[in-house]
Amino acid sequence: MKIKEYLAEQRAVVEEAMDAFMLAVEEPFTKHIEAMRYSLFAGGKRIRPILCLAAGNAIDDSPEMTEKLLSICVALECIHTYSLIHDDLPAMDDDHLRRGKPTNHILYGEAGAILAGDGLLTYAFDLLSKPDICTINATARLRIISLIAQAAGSIGMVGGQSLDMINENKEYPIETLQTIHRHKTGSLITCSVLTGAVGAGADEKQIEALQQYGDNIGLAFQIVDDLLDATSTTEQLGKEAGSDAERGKATYPAFYGIEKTRQLAQEAVERSTRALSGFDDKAEPLRALATYIYTRSH
Ligand code: IPE
Ligand code: IPE
Ligand code: MG
Ligand code: MG
Ligand code: MG
Repeated sequence: MKIKEYLAEQRAVVEEAMDAFMLAVEEPFTKHIEAMRYSLFAGGKRIRPILCLAAGNAIDDSPEMTEKLLSICVALECIHTYSLIHDDLPAMDDDHLRRGKPTNHILYGEAGAILAGDGLLTYAFDLLSKPDICTINATARLRIISLIAQAAGSIGMVGGQSLDMINENKEYPIETLQTIHRHKTGSLITCSVLTGAVGAGADEKQIEALQQYGDNIGLAFQIVDDLLDATSTTEQLGKEAGSDAERGKATYPAFYGIEKTRQLAQEAVERSTRALSGFDDKAEPLRALATYIYTRSH
């Protein structure tokens, strides 16, 4: 399948939904909502929402199903964007460029950026809890809310970010790095896949296979993020290249070198597609996305 065209089409679908569901700039919170919208609409690959749609459509590829998953997509992108705003703060990675634009705190100040992140995180759950916006049946919706809360929280992304910060400029075993990557990045990626599947009514066997798929592409995604940080340019990435070395972060390339790291990412991607062996052609986008995660240039 033509992954470039698929990604462009899905991105347009997701961004239209973001436009429809996102808070409008209104008094008296003008500045705050402007800051939230600034980072949300700054660009980005929209990989997590696209994975959610691809997983849902692997079960049911009707346009109605896509429509039903859109509020989950927007919620996932809100949470991801919040994580980027906070990740870039001076107290964390202290980065100045994101999605090709100045980072949120550069424009809105640290307090503004912290609050923009808080606003995006909370708004995600606001969207998911409204039955007129998230029209998936109540039982599945509650499971989706729980999956997202866990993946974004202290035993998921926040936990991983905490370990990432605590371990700056320290030597530690590769197992710890894998734990960091699986949590700070892998949790939300796996959750994007699972929430799409749950929204589409997947059975438990399918969910288990998609968990395997998600865990492997989640790890591969952060390994490739490390690789790109070490080998690409700021222009290409739209964020500062070489930031990991500067901050004293342990990374896969630092442990293994570039070639071995590429191989490890590829192996994770292969494991992810093997997990899809029980799925039919409707899972082609998921297979193509796994390859894209390995071959992407930004
Ligand atoms: C970057 O995520 C942060 C990580 C979790 C590695 P993406 O590479 O998905 O960033 P955008 O959304 O495309 O900007
Ligand atoms: C961030 O990992 C993971 C998040 C939860 C945002 P990185 O710190 O490597 O992400 P980039 O490279 O700044 O996008
Ligand atoms: Mg970071
Ligand atoms: Mg960072
Ligand atoms: Mg990085």
